[in-house]
Amino acid sequence: MKDKCVLVGISGGIAAFKICSLVSSLKKKGNDVHVLMTKEAEQFVTPLTLQTLSGNRVIRDLFSLDENPEVHHIALARKADVFVIAPATGNIIAKIANGIADDMLTSTFLAADCPKLIVPAMNTYMLENPVTQDNIAKCASYGMHILDSASGYLACGDTGKGRMPEASVIQDAIEMVVSKDRYLSGKRVLVSAGPTREALDPVRYVTNHSSGKMGYELAKAARNAGAEVTLVAGANNLEDPVGIDVIPIVSAADLAEEILARQSESDIIIMAAAVADYTPVSRADQKIKKSEGEFSIPMKRTVDVLAALGKRKREGQILIGFAMETQNLIENASKKLAAKNADYIIANSIADEGAGFGVDTNIVTIISKEGLNPLGLLSKEETAERILEFCVKRED
Ligand SMILES: Cc1cc2nc3c(=O)[nH]c(=O)nc-3n(C[C@H](O)[C@H](O)[C@H](O)COP(=O)(O)O)c2cc1C
Repeated sequence: MKDKCVLVGISGGIAAFKICSLVSSLKKKGNDVHVLMTKEAEQFVTPLTLQTLSGNRVIRDLFSLDENPEVHHIALARKADVFVIAPATGNIIAKIANGIADDMLTSTFLAADCPKLIVPAMNTYMLENPVTQDNIAKCASYGMHILDSASGYLACGDTGKGRMPEASVIQDAIEMVVSKDRYLSGKRVLVSAGPTREALDPVRYVTNHSSGKMGYELAKAARNAGAEVTLVAGANNLEDPVGIDVIPIVSAADLAEEILARQSESDIIIMAAAVADYTPVSRADQKIKKSEGEFSIPMKRTVDVLAALGKRKREGQILIGFAMETQNLIENASKKLAAKNADYIIANSIADEGAGFGVDTNIVTIISKEGLNPLGLLSKEETAERILEFCVKRED
């Protein structure tokens, strides 16, 4: 997400101090960020900090005399692509649920007709109060998006629901709501991501270097395009994306079971996981003790999930596989297209700098029956968007 006009409304909750990192990262990504603060919010974080981080004047006073004679809150509301209120106090949620516009933040909010995201953050008892719950439901009924509060230790000393989610989670939710091109609306997308772990004994396993990033970006891109997304994910360090059903798995057998069970209900299946081709013939019940000399592990083939999906592919279903090779990439990946009955194979080079495991960029070539489409060096986020646009949008 870049080149968007993002309005960040901050109200007077203790979590206001945490919003600085969101403002900074939205700005770093290349967005035009405008911060609006309530008077109470200034008790928790300074306008100077937010002005410095956003690079724009912080908007606080409804009646200030400005060099610019345009009515500021209306002008800002008109140019906004998205309006997020974080943290949203119980008080401000009550106001916006009822159209109250008695300060700069609420007046601008009432004037804005862009997508809106509310991030409630308050003490558990305030949050669970039926009045607050009714107000949140009312906001949702007007089409505002609500980001569910996190649970945990609260600043007041209580433990429970009401924490503001981390900035990265809020940013992910903003990306979900801001997207206008909902070309996958009504479609179900199934994505696999990350590595599998094949156990040798209770303490050891065979795995690979997959970070899961590419699969997660594909799942998010599909969600941003309006799809209902299920993500079957091997062990990784990534945050669960907002609005996506994440199913954690461990082994190749787990992955096969979860993916194949969902094939019939899916319109598009993207197999980005690095699934083990072999698994130990047996798993020792106890830790294998070391002894002198060589040691070998008998291995057997795992289920070839992509081939199994290809065999059972129904009319209209789109099947996208990944191929990662260290040599003869295009040749091997092209063979996979026909052998697995896939519609597209994304050939993923790990020989090139900036591509492959762990990094945030990738270099892929989309292989279809019509030929090769190299995408060049792109962020994994952009690579995911381009893959979906190429493989799915053009089918319509
Ligand atoms: C130390 C302190 C922390 C507060 N934290 C929260 C909070 O996390 N969430 C909330 O809804 N209200 C919180 N409040 C209460 C709000 O500040 C109060 O309702 C205020 O009127 C909100 O104004 P605003 O919504 O216009 O920003 C807190 C108050 C104090 C004194």
